Amino acid sequence: MDFYSAIKTVLWRLEPERAHHLALWALTHNLTPAVAAEPDDPRLRVAVLGRLFANPIGLAAGFDKDARAWRQAARLGFGFVEVGSVTPRPQSGNPRPRLFRLERDHAVINRMGFNNEGVEAMAGRLAARQAGAGGVVLGINIGKNKETLDAAADYEIGARRLGPFADYMVINVSSPNTPGLRALQGKAPLAELIARTHRALGESCGPNPPPLLLKIAPDLTEADLADIAAVALEGMLAGLIATNTTIARLPGLDPRHASQAGGLSGRPLFAPSTAILSALYRLTQGKLPIIGVGGIASGADAYAKIRAGATLVQLYSALVFEGPGLIQRIKRELLQCLERDGLGAIGEAVGLDHR
Ligand code: FNR
Repeated sequence: MDFYSAIKTVLWRLEPERAHHLALWALTHNLTPAVAAEPDDPRLRVAVLGRLFANPIGLAAGFDKDARAWRQAARLGFGFVEVGSVTPRPQSGNPRPRLFRLERDHAVINRMGFNNEGVEAMAGRLAARQAGAGGVVLGINIGKNKETLDAAADYEIGARRLGPFADYMVINVSSPNTPGLRALQGKAPLAELIARTHRALGESCGPNPPPLLLKIAPDLTEADLADIAAVALEGMLAGLIATNTTIARLPGLDPRHASQAGGLSGRPLFAPSTAILSALYRLTQGKLPIIGVGGIASGADAYAKIRAGATLVQLYSALVFEGPGLIQRIKRELLQCLERDGLGAIGEAVGLDHR
């Protein structure tokens, strides 16, 4: 029995949010087993967004909302870590319970509602680090406070305060748990939001602001996606992240939790989020890097996202079911996929399904 199988029986007896806090605490205190320190295979290296990623597997936003444990998380073998979503002011989020494990489905439903300590607390933690300082690539994902009416003003605050610490910044307009947020994905509000966030980054970071990405929902129509692709190709976005959690409930989900409000992630999200990724790759003609996220739990899953058009991938929910050993396993399996297809580097597989 491996380390995680042993502790999972304990962790899973806890209410899910308590288990999450315990996992984060253990990480922060270096109580998780160290991953072999050998460098990643050079075939997994990816140069994109002006940064060098040692491998294409990232930790998705929402696990380390306040940048408490991102360095330790990186040591599990990730090529990059995205912290947040963070809002200008601290907020407590929705009432508990707000996080549910669908064990049989290898899925999670959450309606956390951007619980976080705010941009100042995060800035304090990151102040010691300069962007581009080497080591793991750090993304910072920003959102808006629940009560804020001028949404773009909140993203400007996040960009201005945290831009100097980020290797890349993410505008999150796709959480289902903040009322009105996803409406910002419409063409006109989106163009304004991106322009204002981009300008704020320029003000705080001078001539070399971090690349700006947009994270989208999986619950969008083809017309919505075409609008997003058009805005993305106008030039201020460096990339897209597809996707956040879904408000859809696929038939057959564990009935004990399926009707809980919130966003569904994990295995059932894999197919719909990959379809969105694939459509976006086609609509942007492969001109913009896309980070593929949603339901990845194996090397084959990661490889399928890459073939569908992802330059990088991220995961979160599968960690709950598989434990931290998953990251090294995915990298080993990715190398097997490359060998099987006769490819020399992971970059050669990006968008292969479209050719
Ligand atoms: C998330 N996710 C998320 N995304 C985001 O942009 N900001 C956030 O604050 C959060 N918070 C969050 C909390 C919890 C508990 C979960 C499970 C997820 C979404 C996450 O980054 C990712 O897009 C989805 O979970 C899909 O990937 P997985 O989990 O299927 O690998």
